[in-house]
Amino acid sequence: MSLPLFDVYPSLEGQVSYQALATLPTPVESLEQLALGKGNAWIKRDDLTHHEYGGNKIRKLDFIIADAKQQGKKRIVTFGAIGTNHGVATSMMCQQQGLACTVYLFDQPISKTVQQNLQLMQHYGAELIYCGSLFATVLRYYLNRYRLDKQNYFLFAGGSNIAGTMGFVNAALELKQQIDRGEIPEPDVIVCPVGSSATLAGLTIGCQLAGLNTTVKGIRVAPARLGPFPACTTGTVSTLMKQTQSYLEGVGVTEKAKWKKPVLISDYYGEGYGVATRPGELAQLTMLKQGIKVEQTYTAKAVAAFFDELATNTGDVLYWHTYNSQDMAPIVETVEHKELPEELQAFLAR
Ligand SMILES: Cc1ncc(COP(=O)(O)O)c(C=O)c1O
Repeated sequence: MSLPLFDVYPSLEGQVSYQALATLPTPVESLEQLALGKGNAWIKRDDLTHHEYGGNKIRKLDFIIADAKQQGKKRIVTFGAIGTNHGVATSMMCQQQGLACTVYLFDQPISKTVQQNLQLMQHYGAELIYCGSLFATVLRYYLNRYRLDKQNYFLFAGGSNIAGTMGFVNAALELKQQIDRGEIPEPDVIVCPVGSSATLAGLTIGCQLAGLNTTVKGIRVAPARLGPFPACTTGTVSTLMKQTQSYLEGVGVTEKAKWKKPVLISDYYGEGYGVATRPGELAQLTMLKQGIKVEQTYTAKAVAAFFDELATNTGDVLYWHTYNSQDMAPIVETVEHKELPEELQAFLAR
């Protein structure tokens, strides 16, 4: 299958770095058995983006890894929470593509998923550097020895740079092709979780380029501020959108209408990043009955919002599922916690 981005804009092929690592398109499916309200429920199965480890990060890495290679980089340096899915996806892809990977890590509530992800990053050969607080981690990410070497590619948490956002511009164009093929009606609303923002930013731009009247509603699951600095706000999403729009204009995508503003909803965040909420727990149980696995940091909170949307919206509502569903247990079983750096072992033992 060709890339929807290049189908719509053939002149971008060769200009925009891209390597087909993800298995695309991901299926769209009806969730009609949910029958939760007035709307028709749909799901976009980005949990299936890769046969080994899926989820939304793989789409971003199609563009990020190609961008890094095109610039002659040899290592990707990034950061995330100790249970970062982005860290798992990036370390796996780096290993497969012959790049080194370093991940600076900050605390989050420990859960089975968090422990598994640490073991997976270990398995995929990432260098793990535990820094404690988010603030300390961000400082270390910006001020570290890797900054002295031009062969290192610095990747913001969650893979949310321009290249990563292009992954979700392409995703919206992929959805448009599925609509055109009659696999799903044009959704009235798409609901997705928002952490580092590229998913929401890319889908919002891409839906507009695709000529869809769909509203993309992003559900904030990360803190709005980091000390005095904005972290996950309408402003930070808009900044990433503007950077990506300028990039698109620079490579000749000039048909911009008035670019839309992102829609970011904070009502489902609860008490913190990675802290479960009651609506999220109920959403998790309901989705499990449909055979869909969601987790408490990102997807359960977004599904809670999806259910509320279905209760009032009489149209078609699409939940964009971003969490890997491949069974990682066989790999995790091969990795010992004692292989983790000492300070991480100490943190897990607390
Ligand atoms: C499972 C999952 N869903 C959603 C997100 C949020 O996506 P984004 O960082 O593009 O906002 C993440 C980011 O880490 C994630 O791991």
